[in-house]
Amino acid sequence: MDDTLLEVTDLKKYFPIKQGFLKRTVGHVRAVDGVNLSVKRGETFAVVGESGCGKSTTGRTILRLEEPTGGEVVFQHSELGKINVETASAKVLRRIRPEMQIIFQDPFSSLDSRMTVGRIIAEPMIINNTLSGRALRDRIAELLTVVGLRPEHASRYPHAFSGGQRQRIGIARALALNPKLIVCDEPVSALDVSVQAQVLNLLEDLQDRFDLTYLFISHDLSVVEHIADRVAVMYVGQVVEVGTTDQLFYSPKMPYTEALLSSLPTPDPRKRTRPTLLMGDVPSPANPPSGCYFHTRCPYAQDICKQEAPPLRDIGDNHLAACHFSDELQLKGASRLSEVSATLAATPQSAAAPQPGGQDSAASTASAQEATK
Ligand SMILES: Nc1ncnc2c1ncn2[C@@H]1O[C@H](COP(=O)(O)OP(=O)(O)OP(=O)(O)O)[C@@H](O)[C@H]1O
Ligand code: SF4
Ligand SMILES: [Mg+2]
Repeated sequence: MDDTLLEVTDLKKYFPIKQGFLKRTVGHVRAVDGVNLSVKRGETFAVVGESGCGKSTTGRTILRLEEPTGGEVVFQHSELGKINVETASAKVLRRIRPEMQIIFQDPFSSLDSRMTVGRIIAEPMIINNTLSGRALRDRIAELLTVVGLRPEHASRYPHAFSGGQRQRIGIARALALNPKLIVCDEPVSALDVSVQAQVLNLLEDLQDRFDLTYLFISHDLSVVEHIADRVAVMYVGQVVEVGTTDQLFYSPKMPYTEALLSSLPTPDPRKRTRPTLLMGDVPSPANPPSGCYFHTRCPYAQDICKQEAPPLRDIGDNHLAACHFSDELQLKGASRLSEVSATLAATPQSAAAPQPGGQDSAASTASAQEATK
């Protein structure tokens, strides 16, 4: 059986830029500019990149919450089979929508404050006419329990809950219609770090329990490293690298990915941070550069980079990268905790001199050992 749940081909979403009294279209923001993705059933597929690179618009266009400018999104529906979401009729969309849900970033604004929690969770079931009366109340109670809340919370209003609890309510709502795919758009970035871990653990538990597939949008690489099976990196509306989390974090093949990873805190206590390689501003998606969009910031750029756009190609083991020099460049990935411990163990105490602003060597070694226990 084909294990692909979602296949996105050359997806485009351009927003018109309007000016003047007559609101004439003077250009377009190319928010999503030819995105290709393939998401397997049961995996967590992350989409990362800097703010404004088109992550949310990609997610929303896949779900057809935004009308696409072009391209194809084929979703494997459990009964209807392969459906092109972008050209599906309103009737077919109504059938497939229950299987494709979304969790939003901001648990404070994504819940209607005038509705009780029970009503918020019930809404998709009422709209889709799946349950009513006693069965609906039982289902609401079940969903609240599944996300770690209590059935009696159904009668309360969202303002009575903390950020993490509100996100749990958003998750319960997304689960109401037994989805197959959930687009998680920065689901923990508005939460405190301690609460983030709890919500991520809940998402992982629910994935196992209900056989869910996640398209996990995030700008936080630490979160992605923790939760994702595979990762796509976006830059100015395009996908520039795709690989397993291991391939992408520890042997990146695209200089933009290397630059993003350089901002990750290192687990080596002697070097708390690495110098960031990401210089300059992100180009405007209304007026992207010629050739490789990253050439204006890339430390490895050569003449060809300004003239020719590198295609996203398989450089081995289903690791895709869009760079003319992926085969030659030796790029630096994130540090593995195991490598750091090995280096520390091999380093004489005197050599492990304290770094400016760092800890002393004995404390460093102790904390590294603690971290690897
Ligand atoms: N409705 C809209 N009209 C016009 N431009 C838009 C619209 N929505 C998004 N954009 C633009 O499209 C580009 C991509 O935006 P998007 O929100 O998808 O980025 P993002 O990667 O999700 O960013 P962030 O990490 O900040 O959430 C941005 O330049 C944004 O300003
Ligand atoms: S194609 Fe050129 S500019 Fe683009 S990432 Fe590769 S080396 Fe850098
Ligand atoms: Mg976004």
